[in-house]
This record gives sequence, structure tokens and C-alpha cells, in this order.
Amino acid sequence: MTTDTTTRDTAPGAAVPGEAVLDARGVTMRFGGLTAVRNVDLTVNAGEIVGLIGPNGAGKTTFFNCLTGLYIPTEGEVRYKGAVLPPKSFKVTAAGIARTFQNIRLFANMTVLENVLVGRHTRTKEGLWSALLRGPGFHRAEAASRARAMELLEFVGLAGKAEHLARNLPYGEQRKLEIARALASEPGLLLLDEPTAGMNPQETRATEELVFAIRDMGIAVLVIEHDMRFIFNLCDRVAVLVQGEKLVEGDSATVQGDERVVAAYLGEPFENDPGAAEVAEVEAAEAQADTVTDAVPGKENDR
Ligand SMILES: Nc1ncnc2c1ncn2[C@@H]1O[C@H](COP(=O)(O)OP(=O)(O)OP(=O)(O)O)[C@@H](O)[C@H]1O
Ligand SMILES: [Mg+2]
Repeated sequence: MTTDTTTRDTAPGAAVPGEAVLDARGVTMRFGGLTAVRNVDLTVNAGEIVGLIGPNGAGKTTFFNCLTGLYIPTEGEVRYKGAVLPPKSFKVTAAGIARTFQNIRLFANMTVLENVLVGRHTRTKEGLWSALLRGPGFHRAEAASRARAMELLEFVGLAGKAEHLARNLPYGEQRKLEIARALASEPGLLLLDEPTAGMNPQETRATEELVFAIRDMGIAVLVIEHDMRFIFNLCDRVAVLVQGEKLVEGDSATVQGDERVVAAYLGEPFENDPGAAEVAEVEAAEAQADTVTDAVPGKENDR
């Protein structure tokens, strides 16, 4: 017996609308003399996409680690749907929080499908060891689990590469696979740590759509990114961390217009369409590339 089902419109961990899915209060994390995160409060409500931004070393990933049981905060409390989180990452995953990592962590020599199946072990009664050892009961669970894993690969656009080794995927697809693996634990909250790092502009736009679709499945999202166009297009609210402290929190306009955020991180205010200059630059470059391709058939590096 497993908890698997193969078709669903909303995630099983989906929360009641308006409910606080994540409630972090006074989270502080010290490493010796260094306070990487200082007294940070953050909530994520059901149905929300919340952004966490800030300069390098601001404490964003450390904060994620405090939310997922990798670190036990020096001070403060983290609640998921009202319950204090257990201080172990596998228990946090089982409770309903899934994450991806800034430095991709896949099983490089497993297939794409196997990576997603490993992500399912908190949701199948058989568990990880049975899955790896093919113990009694595994085969009963396998068909349903594989169907759900394929459904998730379809969702992120990797179904065609299910049997490829994870290490052979291009970087952007490895990030998508990490998302599929995180979704395999059927979370109510997904934490994404720089999901578009290393992606080209088209992949980044596709990832935006993917995050909206995840939200529409009933999964709340907390996302760290340095790509401000991505953040301001996507997020209902954005919190800014600077030197471990939350400087500002608000909607995109509030954050973009805050002089302290501009001074500490953004550099200059965005216009109404954030990233417009970047898009114009990419489009101009693409137009030029088309012209060159038209004039000289065949690829320069085609060997
Ligand atoms: N395990 C650790 N031991 C000691 N110091 C740490 C540890 N993890 C993080 N730090 C320090 O905490 C601070 C915050 O780092 P963190 O990785 O959380 O920043 P970040 O906001 O995610 O930065 P980036 O945008 O570059 O990913 C840094 O000064 C870092 O060196
Ligand atoms: Mg980080």
C-alpha cells in the first residue's frame, strides 16, 4: 500500500486559502562570532509566491537551511501549518516542505526518472531503502510511483529524457529536474534557491511559467533569486535581507521604490517594466544573430 495516486489537479499538501503555510519568527543563526541571520520574521501564506532577495552573503541560503532542518536556528521558531518543525531535514520534507539547492544536488549517475523516484520516498510507505533494495512490497508501489514521477517529468518538460543520466542533462534541465524531484515529495511549500542561475533568458521565462503553475497546484513558493525581473514578475511579496537582517518587505513596487534597498542592493530604481533594457539587449542580439545566420548558412561551431 502506498499513498500514491496518479492524477490530481491540486497537490495533496495544498493548504486552506489564506492560511499561513510558513511562519518563521525571530530566526537567528550564528556561526561562532558571525551572525549570518538575525531575528528574521517571515510568513508565506497559502497561494502565495514570496521572494527573498539580497546581496551575496546576506544570509538567504542560511535562512533556507534554518527552514529545512539542515541548521537548527540559534534562536527563533519555524512553524509549518501551525506546527513547529522537527529539527531533521527528512522530517521537514515529510512534514511538507521541499526545496532545491543553490548548488544542484542530483544523483548524477542515476537516470532522470530515478532521481524523481528517490524524491518520492517520503510519500511511499515502502521508503527509500525498500526502493533501493527492491524489497518486499516495492513492486506493488512501483507502478503508481513511476506514473506519478512521469507525470511530474511531463509537468517540468523532461518526460522525453526520463531514461537519460542526470549528469548528461544541460544545466537548465538539471535545475528543472531538481524541481520535479522536490515536487515528488508532494509538498505544501516549495523553497527554490536561485532556480534560474545559469539559465538563458528563454529558460528563465519558462521557469517563471513553471513557478506560476506550481502555485496554481496549491503549493506556496518561497524563492531566492538575483534575477530581479524574474522576482518582480513573479512574487506577490518580496523580503530583502541585508547582512542577515530583513531590511524591507512588501510588494514589488514598495521594494523597488525603497531607497534603502536601492542603496544596499538594487543600485538604481527599476522602471515600470523591470528588465526592459536587458530584454531589449537580448532581442537586439538575437536579431543580429538571425541576420548572420541568413547570410551564412551552416553553424560556425558545427563539428
Ligand atoms: N556553515 C557555515 N559556517 C560558517 N559560516 C557560514 C556557514 N554558512 C554560511 N556562512 C556564512 O554566512 C553568511 C551568509 O551566507 P549565505 O550563503 O546564507 O548567503 P546568501 O545570501 O545565500 O549569498 P549568495 O547570494 O551568495 O548565495 C556568509 O558570510 C557565509 O560565509
Ligand atoms: Mg545563497
